[in-house]
Amino acid sequence: MTAAYDTEALKTIIDTIRQRRDITLEQLSALLDTDDHSAIDYLRTQAREVAQSVYGNAVFMRGLIEFSNVCSNNCRYCGIRRDNTATERYRLNDDTILECCRMGYECGLRTFVLQSGEDGHYDDAHIVPLVQRIRAEFPDCAITLSLGERSRESYQKLFDAGANRYLLRHETADADHYAYLHPAEMSWEHRMQCLRNLRDIGYQVGAGFMVGSPGQTHETLFKDLQFIRTFKPEMCGIGPFIAAQNTPFAHEPNGSVERTLRLLSILRLLHPHVLLPATTALGTLNPFGRELGIQAGANVVMPNLSPTENRPKYSIYDGKICLGDDISHCRSCLESRIESVGYKMVVDRGDYKN
Ligand code: 5AD
Ligand code: FES
Repeated sequence: MTAAYDTEALKTIIDTIRQRRDITLEQLSALLDTDDHSAIDYLRTQAREVAQSVYGNAVFMRGLIEFSNVCSNNCRYCGIRRDNTATERYRLNDDTILECCRMGYECGLRTFVLQSGEDGHYDDAHIVPLVQRIRAEFPDCAITLSLGERSRESYQKLFDAGANRYLLRHETADADHYAYLHPAEMSWEHRMQCLRNLRDIGYQVGAGFMVGSPGQTHETLFKDLQFIRTFKPEMCGIGPFIAAQNTPFAHEPNGSVERTLRLLSILRLLHPHVLLPATTALGTLNPFGRELGIQAGANVVMPNLSPTENRPKYSIYDGKICLGDDISHCRSCLESRIESVGYKMVVDRGDYKN
């Protein structure tokens, strides 16, 4: 049992976190366990203030291109894991990927996120020329890769080819929890080493974790926050865990939207400059999830640029939204959602501000 805190005590905790940019396990538990609405409102207001002091009212867009759902990994939570034979696999060719970028550019996107499963088909010989083509055609855009764990040499080649950013969620900063979420052949140490390699090479790095993943506790979340606070990734993707059919966790409960929002706010206080997406997973569990995310301190949205016919197959979790909506539709949808909460969607690469 944690001690019950009254509103004033909770506000003092929030002020302390903001001032010190640090948190204790006890403070985290207090903020996660409370049902004191005025304290939670205060948390969100503080987080918004901090976000606005760095990025103003801007919300940045990233166009997500899910170019292959082939994956040699078997993460226990993920719908496109290797052992899910019910998933129909696809790969997009380079011309199709370029076409997605062009559509996105016309809609005002200045960051392209190329994401795939860990698909050996896209070795360096394949992906380096693709990155070079995108770099040549869109010199004013940021290229973000999200291809999973690769060798340091491979990361270096992709960086030299013109990639700027890399997303690799750490998933959990607790090694035992990591082992529970992943098969034995995957290693938490290796994942952390990949993140350090990416950082050393010069990428803007995105880490992140699911909220409410099976086995997650206040203690594992506390380690996640400490990791983000000290590693200071330029980006941090967090969204609720959502059960995916045909996976070992198919019958586990979904993560909580409310808890995700609180963690977004806490992350903003701990790491004021971080680029923080209001994720699609948040929008999947709540029709206003993304607006709520922005109101809790997030400042990035990631509309989907993949061809609509492929999207249902990139089913990392069940019920994903926007499956049939083309980019111009999602763009205007997101724009009005963002404006409805007083923010402005901008045509900008949205680089990390130091
Ligand atoms: N629910 C929510 N997020 C998930 N991810 C994978 N599977 C799920 C799920 N079932 C997240 C992981 C991964 C990112 C691409 O999607 O954190 O890194
Ligand atoms: Fe895709 Fe609203 S963002 S339909």
